[in-house]
Amino acid sequence: MWKGPVVNRVSVLFRFLIPRFYDKAIMSRKLHARRIEGIDKNIWVEFSQMAADYKVVNLGQGFPDFSPPGFIQEAFCKAVNGGVPMHQYTRGFGHPPLVKILAKFFSRVVGREIDPMEDVLVTVGAYQALFCTFQALIDEGDEVIIVEPFFDCYQPMVMMAGGTPVYVPLKPREGCGPTMSSAQWVLSPEELASKFTPRTKAIVINSPNNPLGKVYLREELQMIADLCIKHDIICISDEVYEWLTYDGTKHVKIASLPGMWERTVTIGSAGKTFSATGWKVGWAIGSGRVVKHLKTVHQNSVYHCATAAQEAVAVGFLKEYDVFGTEDSYFHQLPVGLHEKRLRLANCLKSVGLKPIIPQGGYFMIADISDIKVNLTDPDTKDEPYDFRFVKWLIKEKGLATIPVSAFFSPEHRENFQKYIRFCFVKEDSTLKAAEDILRQWSDSK
Ligand SMILES: Cc1ncc(COP(=O)(O)O)c(C=O)c1O
Repeated sequence: MWKGPVVNRVSVLFRFLIPRFYDKAIMSRKLHARRIEGIDKNIWVEFSQMAADYKVVNLGQGFPDFSPPGFIQEAFCKAVNGGVPMHQYTRGFGHPPLVKILAKFFSRVVGREIDPMEDVLVTVGAYQALFCTFQALIDEGDEVIIVEPFFDCYQPMVMMAGGTPVYVPLKPREGCGPTMSSAQWVLSPEELASKFTPRTKAIVINSPNNPLGKVYLREELQMIADLCIKHDIICISDEVYEWLTYDGTKHVKIASLPGMWERTVTIGSAGKTFSATGWKVGWAIGSGRVVKHLKTVHQNSVYHCATAAQEAVAVGFLKEYDVFGTEDSYFHQLPVGLHEKRLRLANCLKSVGLKPIIPQGGYFMIADISDIKVNLTDPDTKDEPYDFRFVKWLIKEKGLATIPVSAFFSPEHRENFQKYIRFCFVKEDSTLKAAEDILRQWSDSK
């Protein structure tokens, strides 16, 4: 026999028999904050899940399917076996050995003395460095110029900080030949200049760019730097692929241009640098006057990053410092290996009628799919952009995962960029071969 106060019985009845009504009755308050409205969709969540569900050949998300170099794996194992301190908190703004070697290493690259304790913040991947930067520097109503195509998280991060993203696209130059390079995608100086207003607080650039692979030339960076100085704004420079450039292209740090150190936050990633994306070690480097504000966000959110992973990254950079610029450097070896994979993928894409844009840097290649005729009939995707539908079809019907490129554009410009998909080539040769087989079989069957 059911005992207990009547009110409890009614409550239980409501709860189990009419759960929706119950939820509404007791939780009438809106559950989410306004700052997350409209940013709930995320391509990595959606497409990584699809790639897992359909057990595909995965050229989608940007991570290597091979191991990091032996020296850094050994460093990690050594750190994990390195006694109590490796398993406990270290300095919140960055493990001292890591900030010291990052400062020493990048002092040489930037051409000025970087202070390890003031100018460097270690974060949970480049993602958290970006998050801290936007939260620390952007106020309600500030405008942030974002160069398109852009790594997709910049937009929601600006919005969560209360800022307004203002977009300016890289566009292909007129009259490009049949083989296009990312170098032919350029910013119009006039268009960029027109985006600056008294509310502009910062600009975000990404070189080498994900997804396009563009590496900005010194002259292009100088044009951006001049505008930053003229309008007294901050430059957030995402350089997670800085060591990955091809065909003699040189990566230039905008922070190294005159007058830019004081106003640039440079973002880096050990995940991309040492092919260990799962470690999630990143950093922000800049003038202590700016970085101290990022530290405020960090100390009040994440506070601290995994000690052993930081120790291993420190050991990796110590080794790289000694061999920098030689053939023994992983920063030399990785792009040499990727150069072959890049050519291989480009040749395959061309042979099946796709038009790749050859990247100068990074580990992605985008390709024009407009000449490929596919009957996209899935009613579930009918309201989605063409490239989203195409990529979903490719996953389901052909077992190959890629990423739709319109996801890297603003809602305003997305419509003009629905004919590209992105391939990731930081993959084993066997994975690239499996992708080639799929594409060639499909091409032969047409
Ligand atoms: C341009 C760019 N910035 C930042 C990140 C995030 O890097 P991390 O894995 O270190 O957080 C990525 C990851 O793909 C990226 O492509």
